[in-house]
Amino acid sequence: MKSYYANKGTGLASLTMKEHDIPVPGPHEVLVRVRAASLNYRDLAILWGTYPLPIKPDGIPLADGAGEVMVTGPGITRARTGGRVAATPLPLWIDGPFGGWDYAAQIGGSLDGLLTEYAVLHEEWIVHIPDHLSFEEAAALPTAGIAAWNALTGGSRPLQAGETVLTLGSGGVSLFAFQFAKLFGAHIIVTTSSEDKAQRLKALGADEVVNYRTTPNWHEAVRELTAGRGVDHVVESIDGLCAGFCSHWHIFRGDGGGFRRALQALALIMAQSRESLMRTPKVTTLSDGRQKRAMVCPSAHLCAQQSLV
Ligand SMILES: NC(=O)c1ccc[n+]([C@@H]2O[C@H](COP(=O)([O-])OP(=O)(O)OC[C@H]3O[C@@H](n4cnc5c(N)ncnc54)[C@H](OP(=O)(O)O)[C@@H]3O)[C@@H](O)[C@H]2O)c1
Repeated sequence: MKSYYANKGTGLASLTMKEHDIPVPGPHEVLVRVRAASLNYRDLAILWGTYPLPIKPDGIPLADGAGEVMVTGPGITRARTGGRVAATPLPLWIDGPFGGWDYAAQIGGSLDGLLTEYAVLHEEWIVHIPDHLSFEEAAALPTAGIAAWNALTGGSRPLQAGETVLTLGSGGVSLFAFQFAKLFGAHIIVTTSSEDKAQRLKALGADEVVNYRTTPNWHEAVRELTAGRGVDHVVESIDGLCAGFCSHWHIFRGDGGGFRRALQALALIMAQSRESLMRTPKVTTLSDGRQKRAMVCPSAHLCAQQSLV
């Protein structure tokens, strides 16, 4: 069988494919034939060396993937041969608030990932895929999709029909967020960098699109689009409090300007930070009553819930 291997900070060209024996699952483990795997920004950040969490040297990349169970190890109760499963990105975080660094092991990070033909996973690390999802669809959901779901539905103030949601950029998290928000009956405003992407976002259902390159003060444009009221939710996956965890900080010249603008455009913000990763869900009430909430990758429980929706 073949697997790809990489090291933190060694760049895309350093990806190396190796042939090796198919691993044998131990107690409470399954052997999964990986049928689809998906890329996230974090996978690039690991190769660039900007990802903040520990990375296994010479490890197999990619957190997100799906496949079928080929072999079950002794004592398995949660899987059967032939079952269709996806991995959960933070497999030691089963449910409830994030418990700290002991729970921060990540598939495709400190643990081997899914850029491989076969993977051995503990039975607690998998969720079952419903019939209506293809392997490709299931592989795309865990990191970006469920982080977006968590941002919109978690916390003390889940999204309500008729509210306005602002998503920043047209990356993986934003695309999931605005499509989920649309299903909730929300009004969607998206920022992006080109007319071409703006047209595609509108075709996907965005109600309003603001070009953040031609409109640097996009927060003012967003306020105008809401008749001065401001949006109800921002899913901020670009800047500001993300600085410790997201690598787009340098794109904003390290001044947090995007986050400040977002704050001026909204009533509630969901953001993430390395610090807040330790204490999720953390809700902070700002001086004027608006709230920001830490957003992180999902627990296994949330992965399972979402795949059943
Ligand atoms: N903590 C978690 O659980 C979690 C989960 C998922 C993702 N994340 C993090 O969230 C971030 C986004 O992830 P992703 O997968 O959505 O990334 P992505 O697919 O690479 O998308 C990034 C998007 O950001 C927009 N962008 C880039 N520079 C910008 C700028 N200067 N101003 C405004 N927008 C800009 C671009 O949108 P346009 O192309 O439209 O211009 C780009 O497509 C990453 O840092 C990732 O690590 C965290």
